[in-house]
Amino acid sequence: MLNHFKQAVERLKEENRYREFLDISRICGKFPYAINNQNGKKIIVWCSNDYLGAGQNIEAISKAKEALDTYGIGAGGTRNISGNSHILIDLETEIAKLHAKESALSFVSGYVANDATIQTLAKVLPDLVIFSDAKNHASIISGIRNSKAQKEVFRHNDTEHLEELLKKYPTSQPKIIIFEAVYSMDGDFGEIAKIIELAKKYSALTYIDEVHAVGLYGKTGGGLSQEFGLSDQIDIIQGTCAKAFGTIGGYIAGKYEIIDAIRSLASGFIFTTALPPVIAAATISNIRQAQIDDSARKNLHKNVALLKAELAKAGIEIIKNNSHIISVRIGDAAKAKAASKRLLEDFNIYIQHINYPTVAKGDERLRITVTPLHSKEMIEDLALALQKVL
Ligand SMILES: Cc1ncc(COP(=O)(O)O)c(C=O)c1O
Repeated sequence: MLNHFKQAVERLKEENRYREFLDISRICGKFPYAINNQNGKKIIVWCSNDYLGAGQNIEAISKAKEALDTYGIGAGGTRNISGNSHILIDLETEIAKLHAKESALSFVSGYVANDATIQTLAKVLPDLVIFSDAKNHASIISGIRNSKAQKEVFRHNDTEHLEELLKKYPTSQPKIIIFEAVYSMDGDFGEIAKIIELAKKYSALTYIDEVHAVGLYGKTGGGLSQEFGLSDQIDIIQGTCAKAFGTIGGYIAGKYEIIDAIRSLASGFIFTTALPPVIAAATISNIRQAQIDDSARKNLHKNVALLKAELAKAGIEIIKNNSHIISVRIGDAAKAKAASKRLLEDFNIYIQHINYPTVAKGDERLRITVTPLHSKEMIEDLALALQKVL
């Protein structure tokens, strides 16, 4: 029997897809520095999704400590049978406010939020057809598969193709269009305005994954739909607390009736232990911070512009986009891995290479995330190091 496991791993190794995790220790208050535990050296992390360094916000840490002393560590069970910690209600109120929606519901992760919600939509809406962008995240794909609903996958960001598919169904048949605000690998934006227009024309609901946009775009960090003044026209906004908000957990926000039905029927919400109060406390603090103070957001975008300019100066081509995600296409799994290894060994720079199936074969890359906490000097050094390695 064990042979099957060994062979499965061998196949991955042959295809250069075997995942080796880098053993690091983050250091509180020192982000983007971390320790590479392979050799004890200090490294600079350039691939964290803690986009604003909010995981180490002093205020959030102090709120977490307070909650730890007040409530202890765990949530104590599911909200259904063990009591609904008040701080989770506060968290959901804060999320609803962030997106100017009536209600919100928290999940243990953004992945679970997508998977559980999408499955449940098909239980609620008879004969639902799901229209899904071809580049949607694995958690959305899992939700669609598990929903067993009829699905139509439209070519990435191709709204003409989406319209062709929408046209095939009677107006009266329930439909939902699921797409992302910022696609995590190429960093391109979803076609929010056009999709809303089509949703209206064909009586479809809209579902946007704002995981890579919340906290980073919009006047108060409400994501790309807020940035474009369109969030009121989206039916379900899904997001995460694990990236720009620096903690863990996922959520959906929308009209009361929608959220209440998902709360009542989603297996991935009902049958799992709730987020711990200590996490809720830190998340509330970081979401509030994002709403009242846009300096981290502004500094992030300044650094993104600076890094893009430095890379251009160094002759390094990146995938063009208007977002904070900076990807350097390598196009070969072994080469991407080798580049990542050299950056780490020779320059103490950590950029995880991204291989299939996270991206398509031939699309392997280095995905770089700069934060407000990377200095100008770090940015210049990175461009030079990349130039040498590439
Ligand atoms: C687009 C997208 N949606 C959802 C998720 C899942 O979010 P989380 O990390 O909170 O589980 C991710 C994960 O990185 C993602 O990239």
